[in-house]
Amino acid sequence: MVRQNGVGVQAEDTKICVVMVGLPARGKSFIAQKAQRYLQWLSIPAKTFNVGNYRRNDAPQPTADFFSTTNTEGEKMRRAAAEAAVADMLAWFRSGGVIGILDATNSTKERRRWVLETCKAEGVEVIFVESKCDDENLIMANIRDVKTTSPDYKGQDPEEAAQDFRKRIKMYESVYKSVDEDGDEEDLTYLKMMNVGKQVVINRISDYLQSRVVYYLMALHIRPRSVWLSRHGESEFNLDGKIGGDAYLSGRGELYARKLPELIRQSTGDDRPLTVWTSTLKRTIATARFLPPNYNQLQWKALDELDAGVCDGLTYQEIKNKYPEDFEARDADKYNYRYQGGESYRDVVIRLEPIMMELERSEDILIITHQAVLRCIYAYYMMKDSEDSPWMNVPLHTLIKLTPRAYGTQEERFPANIPAVSTWRGKGSTAKHEDPSGSVM
Ligand code: SIN
Repeated sequence: MVRQNGVGVQAEDTKICVVMVGLPARGKSFIAQKAQRYLQWLSIPAKTFNVGNYRRNDAPQPTADFFSTTNTEGEKMRRAAAEAAVADMLAWFRSGGVIGILDATNSTKERRRWVLETCKAEGVEVIFVESKCDDENLIMANIRDVKTTSPDYKGQDPEEAAQDFRKRIKMYESVYKSVDEDGDEEDLTYLKMMNVGKQVVINRISDYLQSRVVYYLMALHIRPRSVWLSRHGESEFNLDGKIGGDAYLSGRGELYARKLPELIRQSTGDDRPLTVWTSTLKRTIATARFLPPNYNQLQWKALDELDAGVCDGLTYQEIKNKYPEDFEARDADKYNYRYQGGESYRDVVIRLEPIMMELERSEDILIITHQAVLRCIYAYYMMKDSEDSPWMNVPLHTLIKLTPRAYGTQEERFPANIPAVSTWRGKGSTAKHEDPSGSVM
């Protein structure tokens, strides 16, 4: 049996457990969270099971000694936490889960063998994903992140928290064995990443879905960086409430294009050049044209607006009059509805996949694109589900800066304060310029 999903066709009963491996502060939770977000974005049921969260039920804020191998009480609680996480994960697989991510150190061979055998007994394939890191700057950045964001150190003095966390890492170092370090884990399927993105070793990756996961993880890196998103300036079609087309900017859209360089400087805080990706349509290219000449610009067909097919160039009222059934069907399931001769949001996500891969590989990218495309990219970073994302309000004339962190993506908005029509439309409405207040994004 096969079924259709976001990335194409997949064997019905493929279930994969991605088992994270590595010392604390090696970016494991960051990688786990990114992988989950990517898979969910592609409509593949994915969920992370964080062993630390289970352990916090019994030991909410333990000191480093809790993690010592000579602390039998601590050892017992940590094993119980791992067992509870794996039991929940297996129950989730039985209820239709496809990719479970076990976010924990899994630093000994015994623990890894136990996870492997437990999963295998339930017909779940296992990939070990080890994150190794010898770059002191990266480790320090992670320690800083953990001490300020982890519930383990909430409310504690940041310096003491950092010291305790370093001690905890030492405890783990005393028992840590890298995957297949002694050549006796050669039978495992694994991906070892050195300084995330620098060097990878792959062993025994066998099927399609496994290779998709691995391919994505290979694109990742954990250097701190941001991505900037903007819609094009207001267009002449926006003024008329028409969708699609390839119109020029309105006068106010022009003003936004002229103001964009200043907004970027304000958001970066320095003069570093960004690389600009636009669609192939006039309004995004025109919005980018006042950016400094040392900004490289690239046009992507994949960033073009959702293709409205037979409805291209119409207002919502005209669509409702001409294609009333389509208008209703779209409101009922906006993510999956495909315009006659055009696209659905689901189609847009699939064509954006190479963009997201490239975005993970790159740094300092500014994307100037269109409402529907921007909603899909925003949903990827902010983990919005497919039911809500097509309804989000993404205002014109606003620069959005997204910065992925270990525990979620930080968002900043830089409004240009140049008036523009609203192109947001609520369910059932045919209004040209609706007020989106009260909408969620
Ligand atoms: C934790 O208790 O914080 C993590 C458990 C582990 O993976 O070692």
